[in-house]
Amino acid sequence: MELLVNIDHIATLRNARGEGVPDPVEAARICEDNGAAGIVFHLREDRRHIRDHDVYALREHIRGTVDFEMAATDEMLGICEKIRPHICTLVPESRQELTTEGGLNMRMIFEDYRSRVIPRLLDTGTIISLFVDPNPDDIQRCRELGVQAIELHTGMYANARKASVVEHELERLREAAELAHSLGLIVNAGHGLNFTNTTPFIRAVPHLADISIGHALVTHAVFHGLATSVRTMADIISKG
Ligand code: PXP
Repeated sequence: MELLVNIDHIATLRNARGEGVPDPVEAARICEDNGAAGIVFHLREDRRHIRDHDVYALREHIRGTVDFEMAATDEMLGICEKIRPHICTLVPESRQELTTEGGLNMRMIFEDYRSRVIPRLLDTGTIISLFVDPNPDDIQRCRELGVQAIELHTGMYANARKASVVEHELERLREAAELAHSLGLIVNAGHGLNFTNTTPFIRAVPHLADISIGHALVTHAVFHGLATSVRTMADIISKG
């Protein structure tokens, strides 16, 4: 199980003043030097954090896993074909949302993905990962589409406050991971994971490959420094 750091919010901070700092490429280097197995970045349609030039610079400089998160628009598919990331994580995207709000609506997107999206991405040689809620029907549909990986949406678990709801969400995630693994899918996970909820999550859910964490790490880094924050989280993940 490995930590991938989502560095979108380094770019958010950089864009706040329109200057070149903090530089996402420098952030990626620090993350990789301190235990991250790779880097995730999401190029949104509105370019609110990561910008096009970041995508090309990050692709050139990241030494480990490059996980390019994107919506399945023709424009993003074209960029993915150019940069050929190790993993392409497909997410739903709406303009008004503050962050990705849920997994893909697999029933709704199935035919479009089958005919337009997946064939183009398979040609790039990237591992295609679909961001899904921990729901058995959705996972079956991922298998039917012929993708190699899923990323389980952990947001409901991360936002749960009542112990019974936390347990229920962990159970859903555990069952979803078991099913995906039994279907031959790589199981990644992310969204809302932090310094408190990551350990119970990785102890409860089997077969996890990559864990993608962004906001909690970048906010922790404001007080503790990015190197310390990433090293601490990489330790949490390796100890399990
Ligand atoms: N995985 C996906 C698919 C995401 O959209 C995000 C948020 O950009 C993350 C993981 C990371 O979530 P967080 O920033 O809450 O750690």
